[in-house]
Amino acid sequence: MAQQETDEQTQINDGFVVDTEDCEARELAHRERGTARPITVVGNPVLHKECKDVTEFDDSLAALIDDMFASQKAAEGVGLAANQIGVDLKVFVYDCPDDEGVRHTGVVINPVLQELPAEQRVLDESNEGCLSVPTAYAELARPDYAEVHGQDAQGNPIKVRGTGYFARCLQHETDHLYGYLYIDRLSKRDRKDALRQMEEGTPRYETVPNA
Ligand code: NI
Repeated sequence: MAQQETDEQTQINDGFVVDTEDCEARELAHRERGTARPITVVGNPVLHKECKDVTEFDDSLAALIDDMFASQKAAEGVGLAANQIGVDLKVFVYDCPDDEGVRHTGVVINPVLQELPAEQRVLDESNEGCLSVPTAYAELARPDYAEVHGQDAQGNPIKVRGTGYFARCLQHETDHLYGYLYIDRLSKRDRKDALRQMEEGTPRYETVPNA
């Protein structure tokens, strides 16, 4: 997910990963080992189909995660899915503040968004953007709380939860790995407007040209 115009998951808390500690050091370590790669944009087939499940939790997965953190930082994103750097695997990384201003940093492999009971679903209508739809933003209503179940880089089961802007990020990144962009959730008119914004803007980071 794109930043708004305005910045070792080992401990467990209530069954949920603690992703708020040592964020700066963890993000830096990944990014320094990795290499930033150009970002795929709407129209690239890799963004419009479900990614493959990760089955090997090996060094190449670790290297992918490092490259994803480097790419996320280079593009000033708050979340990045593997298909946004052209890799067809269910992996996303994030470095995102919640609505209390608390920073969350982590990685989720094979994420599955948990359905919330209707009575727990409070919609938050806020601005959303995506590195794969550069320079465009649109208002989109999403639940203000999200839970994602998946695995860590070693293959251990993990649960991640978030509120507000971070909840939006968890939903947005999971969507990516199932082949959906946030503009797919907009009205026809708003989608068209977002694509027009993209046409008129110039990304501040390197993108992969569409064939
Ligand atoms: Ni995105």
